[in-house]
Amino acid sequence: MRVGKRTRGRRQRGLGWRWVALAGSVLALSALVAGGAVAAGGGGHPSRPANPGIEAKVHALLAQMTLDEKLKQLQLMADWQINDVEAEKGVGAVFSLTNPERINHFQHVAVEQSRLHIPLLFAFDTIHGFRTIFPIPLAEASSFDPDVATADFTFAARETAATGLKQIYSPMVDISHEPRWGRISEGAGEDPYLGSVMAAARVQAAQGSDYSAADKVVTSPKHFAAYGQPEGGRDYNTTDMSEQRLWNLYLPPFKAAFDAGADTAMCSFNAINGVAGCGNHETETEILKKQWHFDGFIESDYTAVAELINHGVAADGADAARVALNAGTDMEMVSTNYVDFGKQLLNGHEISMHQIDDAVRRILRVKFRAGLFEHPYVDWQQAESKQLLPDAVAAARKAAGRSMVLLKNDGTLPLDPTKSVAVIGPLGNNQHDMLGPWWGVGRDQDAVTVFNGIKAQDPSATFAEGCQILDKDPPDPPNDECGSDAGFDAAVAAAQTADQVVLALGETRGEGGEAESRSNIDLPGKQQELIDRIKATGKPFVVVLFNGRPLTLQKVDAAAPAILEAWFPGVQAGNAVADVLFGNVNPGGKLPVTFPRNVGQVPIYYNHEPTGRPCDPTFKWNSRYRDIPTCAPMYPFGYGLSYTTFDISNLRLSSDTMRPNGSVTAWVDVKNTGSRTGDDVVQLYIHDPVATISQPVRRLRGFQRVTLNPGQTKTVSFTLDRDDVGFYDNSGKFVVEPGTIDVYAGDSSVGGLTDSFTVTP
Ligand code: BGC
Repeated sequence: MRVGKRTRGRRQRGLGWRWVALAGSVLALSALVAGGAVAAGGGGHPSRPANPGIEAKVHALLAQMTLDEKLKQLQLMADWQINDVEAEKGVGAVFSLTNPERINHFQHVAVEQSRLHIPLLFAFDTIHGFRTIFPIPLAEASSFDPDVATADFTFAARETAATGLKQIYSPMVDISHEPRWGRISEGAGEDPYLGSVMAAARVQAAQGSDYSAADKVVTSPKHFAAYGQPEGGRDYNTTDMSEQRLWNLYLPPFKAAFDAGADTAMCSFNAINGVAGCGNHETETEILKKQWHFDGFIESDYTAVAELINHGVAADGADAARVALNAGTDMEMVSTNYVDFGKQLLNGHEISMHQIDDAVRRILRVKFRAGLFEHPYVDWQQAESKQLLPDAVAAARKAAGRSMVLLKNDGTLPLDPTKSVAVIGPLGNNQHDMLGPWWGVGRDQDAVTVFNGIKAQDPSATFAEGCQILDKDPPDPPNDECGSDAGFDAAVAAAQTADQVVLALGETRGEGGEAESRSNIDLPGKQQELIDRIKATGKPFVVVLFNGRPLTLQKVDAAAPAILEAWFPGVQAGNAVADVLFGNVNPGGKLPVTFPRNVGQVPIYYNHEPTGRPCDPTFKWNSRYRDIPTCAPMYPFGYGLSYTTFDISNLRLSSDTMRPNGSVTAWVDVKNTGSRTGDDVVQLYIHDPVATISQPVRRLRGFQRVTLNPGQTKTVSFTLDRDDVGFYDNSGKFVVEPGTIDVYAGDSSVGGLTDSFTVTP
């Protein structure tokens, strides 16, 4: 099929955009296509040797396939492309179809009517839940608790698999320094270590030890690679990336996901250093398939093969197929250049049969591993009965509570449940936006609103909307967020009759996610004015924020006595917010991403390299903004408050030296010095002060979330070894250099205790 003008249904599937005709462009990069296919003859990951039985079956099946049948296996069709004719021809995979009866129907056609009876692989973007929607991934990263990610992906896999879907385009593991980028909501934030821990937990939970199990799915970490760093924060934009940054910041979560067993991958839309993700031989073949021993398959992102023409690295569709296949992209999503031009390219010796076979083998291998040949069907009539079950809903509530971050508190929180509460604001009685971007098949009516959650714990609560937020989709008029102050008087009146006020503010869910970059990340519309009007009443109030990116909160911080960052909490939003506001859950989340003061500070992130003139606000000639009187962001990475207080003390190291292959253990004590039980996240950072290339001023290398009763002390330990103290250089080589390593321990990326040890030659 040719690429043309088409509109994807956003409302149906949680994302979408208009795709313009792909302008013909020139300049094929022959350098991109130099490599051949990697023999995927079943070498496998060192910790997961290939299964000879499966390899033999793949081999036998491949031997029977015609070229047309092989090329069809390389085709990935959207829900709007699949039909009986295509299913019978035996396409490789289908995505975004979520109706279990339709899935079952097409699977029957493929298995019973296609010549070789090869089952279809059905895939879906299960990003933070399928029907039981959990907090967005950025929120879950705030929990600093891999068990939260595990719970999400365990239930998500169960619901997804019960529908007949066997692959998820998830986890999204793109590290990002870009709050302007809407897709920052889908990842784990700015830190590669935290991102790696979360990525591994997600993959293990979704796949288990064997993803052919009825409640498991195969994962597809995305977007390979460095899609999180588009220039200017503008989605799909180009990325210029030093080798050391690619390896030190962007690749580690992918590596962690593949080491955890992820068996498929998605290449990215964006170009790194002029080479597009789905035409990138270096990342796809050299790194992923060869160095990392990945023997699953890589699918392209949506029309990303055809988009190689727009990137200016392919002349036409045939050329795009040539570049992508040679780079290592095994399956083409939506555009159809492999199927359309595969034969022509083969005849012209621009691709080889060996390469086509390699791609087909990878796809068949995953289908065998997924158990699709033995169990192609699910009981579709039971699919819905597996959704939104009490254990999943309870886990979603717990996950949401653990993901919230207390940004400010003058003592207004926790609220007193015996006093009356006015819930005010456009997100105060809102189900739709609570689910966040990528809501799977979640339904608005599943979500608990803030008002209902608060009313359940304080029946006297009242509600006034103040202003409206409308989640609209381009090309409709832009989101209409709190554009009118007509409801402000009523909101003020509601505040005046209550003892305390909860202001529920933020973004629409449509403002997070794909193609939702913003140049202004203030609280949208007139919401700040609403805060000011409520403040003027003199009533104690708290701002609860729902958003999918760091916002610039200087004015909110200046006005509000207390701020709770709730992100998009998912299906149990209101209950979880009420748990935290009334103190039944003591907030313990920490920011997984830096919050800037204003957008001009972006990019701003904790693990930056030093400069020759480090920022000093008291002095002119150094690296700073003259119109910002501080070097600090609004809130740093790792920051978050609690209703209790903690003291971190007594950092000690097992040794003051470490051999290059040895290790050093750090211990630190954390004490709850307040009067409530609470959670703290103890964080361990390191810094290499003298290295051949400048090392980040701090790098997170360990964290642990602990629960402590009042007065209780726990000792937390972290072991550091070569993986922690070493780094990748600008040739992508991992080096461990002798010299001092500074260690910092605390509960934020700022301050804390310090010590150091020496790595010996
Ligand atoms: C997104 C991917 C997603 C795919 C399929 C693309 O637009 O970039 O993340 O998996 O669509 O829905």
